[in-house]
Amino acid sequence: MKNLSFVPVLAALISVQVSAAPIAMEDQSQLQVPAAAPVATAFQPPQESELPDNAYGKLVMQGYALFVDTKRLAPQFVGNGLNCSNCHLDQGRLANSAPLWGAYPMYPAYRKKNDKVNTFAERLQGCFQFSMNGGKPPAADSHEITALSTYAYWLASKAPLGGELPGRGYPEVPQPAKGYNLAQGAEVYKAQCAVCHGAEGQGQKVGDSYVMPPLWGKDSYNWGAGMHRINTAASFIKHNMPLGKGGSLTDQQAWDVAAYVNRHERPQDPRLVDGSVEKTRIKFHANDGVNLYGQTVDGVLIGQGIR
Ligand code: HEC
Ligand code: HEC
Repeated sequence: MKNLSFVPVLAALISVQVSAAPIAMEDQSQLQVPAAAPVATAFQPPQESELPDNAYGKLVMQGYALFVDTKRLAPQFVGNGLNCSNCHLDQGRLANSAPLWGAYPMYPAYRKKNDKVNTFAERLQGCFQFSMNGGKPPAADSHEITALSTYAYWLASKAPLGGELPGRGYPEVPQPAKGYNLAQGAEVYKAQCAVCHGAEGQGQKVGDSYVMPPLWGKDSYNWGAGMHRINTAASFIKHNMPLGKGGSLTDQQAWDVAAYVNRHERPQDPRLVDGSVEKTRIKFHANDGVNLYGQTVDGVLIGQGIR
């Protein structure tokens, strides 16, 4: 394909790692339990060279561009410094990194998060609202949602409809028997993450764009995002970080560092109830996996939000 030169060539850095944990995306009760996929044997999405040179191919490429360069191409829908591909690695292609080919065939699906059956468009809107801290998401029939859906549909070419593929989502890493430890998480962070993500989780910029995404602070995902759950972040981190060395942390290290990352302030949950962290905790966080929202750590209330 042409027009790809602006994409950071991070995909090349990503080495392939596998672990045999079961998956659980606990907000989607219809799901079966697929295994983590060895990337070599995971579903193979089509290559760019297979894309037809017509209106459909063009829309796929526009969806692809939006996915990897979201902040620049859809600034009105992005309230932080992230791109979709920061959490869905290798352009949404990588197994065990919530690949789009694993997602597309599974919608419509019930989600506990909003207690209704969600179309794929609504699922994309959710990531705009929370992971991208984007405020009002693009309309279901907008160019953005149509292009992103077309890109996901294309990546899922020849995948079974409604059949869960191994490598979907971030296969779950069970909580260690001893729970998690924030002090140990800080050590892991300093030794293995700070070199790229910064000592204060602030990421690294070249000009106006992040080349290393922030993990907390005003340009990160907000308190309503799936990644704020320690269990979800631990699963993402275990399979995908440090970049290029996925699978190298122990489960304990993944949980410790996920907790450390998610004890830091970030933009408020846009569902904030009556301006109250406590009411929001009870309504949205008390039964949402393992998280620190609304709890007090070292005498400080977590979840106050940051602008
Ligand atoms: C901060 C990390 C992050 C960013 C950025 C992000 N996502 Fe996600 N995304 C997640 C997480 C975490 C999940 C799983 C959510 C869960 O378990 O509730 C998810 C789930 C999804 C799913 C459903 C996956 C499935 O198998 O059901 C789709 C589709 C998706 N994201 C698309 C997008 C798009 C499009 C963007 C950009 C507009 C985006 N995401 C940005 C973290 C992110
Ligand atoms: C070699 C540099 C590097 C190291 C080391 C590294 N990361 Fe990352 N990380 C990245 C890059 C780059 C991305 C975005 C990937 C992309 O866009 O393809 C990322 C994405 C992430 C994300 C999702 C995006 C976001 O901003 O929330 C999280 C969470 C994360 N890393 C956590 C960690 C943790 C925890 C460690 C240490 C265990 C770590 N990373 C080590 C480079 C690194």
